[in-house]
Amino acid sequence: MIDDPFASTLERMFARLRAQRLWRRREPRSSPQAPSIQIQGETLLSFASNDYLGLAADPRLVEAWCEGARRYGVGAGASHLLGGHTQAHHELEEALAVFVGTPRALIFSTGYMANLALVTVLCPRHGTVFEDRRNHASLIDAVTLAQARRRRYRDTADLRRVLAGTGPGGIVASDGVFSMDGDTADVAPLLAAAQAHGAGLLIDDAHAFGVVGPGGRGSAAAHGISHHPALVQMGTLGKAFGVFGAFVAGSADVIEALIQRARPYIYTTAMPPAMAVCAQAGLAIAAAEEYRRAALRERIREFRAGAAALGLRVLPSSTAIQPVILGDAAYALSASAALRRHGLHVPAIRPPTVASGTARLRITLTAAHTRDDVERLLGALAALPPDSA
Ligand SMILES: Cc1ncc(COP(=O)(O)O)c(C=O)c1O
Repeated sequence: MIDDPFASTLERMFARLRAQRLWRRREPRSSPQAPSIQIQGETLLSFASNDYLGLAADPRLVEAWCEGARRYGVGAGASHLLGGHTQAHHELEEALAVFVGTPRALIFSTGYMANLALVTVLCPRHGTVFEDRRNHASLIDAVTLAQARRRRYRDTADLRRVLAGTGPGGIVASDGVFSMDGDTADVAPLLAAAQAHGAGLLIDDAHAFGVVGPGGRGSAAAHGISHHPALVQMGTLGKAFGVFGAFVAGSADVIEALIQRARPYIYTTAMPPAMAVCAQAGLAIAAAEEYRRAALRERIREFRAGAAALGLRVLPSSTAIQPVILGDAAYALSASAALRRHGLHVPAIRPPTVASGTARLRITLTAAHTRDDVERLLGALAALPPDSA
């Protein structure tokens, strides 16, 4: 009789992760999300959050959440199709459709689930998904779950080549802002290439809605596109909008298909309605307060100018995600630890999340950072010891 059937498998797994220096650990934060955070008694200046507009602890959102809880209680109590769908969810969907400029929108509990839903419904078994090599894990997993054929591409020119060698139809799927590199997808050329092939285009705009494009309306809007029947846009509510959850915006038929068929929508409890009330408030603030996007742009400009002066290896990113490439995984870890000793929280990102030899510090800037914060970061980066490997 084996007492613990998991023991030997898990021990091997743990040993492998430790040997590859891929062991991860969590550090409980005891303060709200903000540039200045508390972790285990330490006060740190954080460049690690996706709270791009500085809304995650906004008192108006806290109040909206409380107000929503007073009205609806704390739990939805059921899935959307079996009694969990409330007026709060409905109003949030309507507000999102107006914001993005699409006929309809549908909310999901997470962006991960929204991507699983989209790919499994829009590209069922044996369909083809053309995916950018740098897509987020949730899109990659979605193709596996859908049992679709996967064709990977590097850039738009490569996509055209891949499309030419494949039968018509399918969907092209791309992050709008690449989460580890910070650069943006060429939405208009991607849409033209997809359309010419009879394919749809799915843009995962998790890191763009709220911050990229006119009024923060996303990567497609940055290309002058709001709605197009061949385009489906996905966004999260847990990054620039400061709350939690996600949405899909697109044509009425695509949204209806998701309601009818998407298992990650149907077989799960609806997001708490208070959260939907709060997310609607986050959306309204993000849409109205242009000065937040202006402050973020200014911080990005200051950081890039300072990094260039220091000769740091940054990527061609105009967004809040500003990676500094260090190359070696061990060096990236030691650089992150050195910054920590300066009171800065900047995560190191290593393979397999990024390609081998491109380990990096993933710096994220927010509208809540000040010019002094950016200068402090640059000062600490300038003082990093060189790679001794
Ligand atoms: C590009 C991208 N897509 C999707 C997701 C998943 O969204 P969510 O956190 O709402 O599950 C994330 C990150 O969380 C992301 O970075």
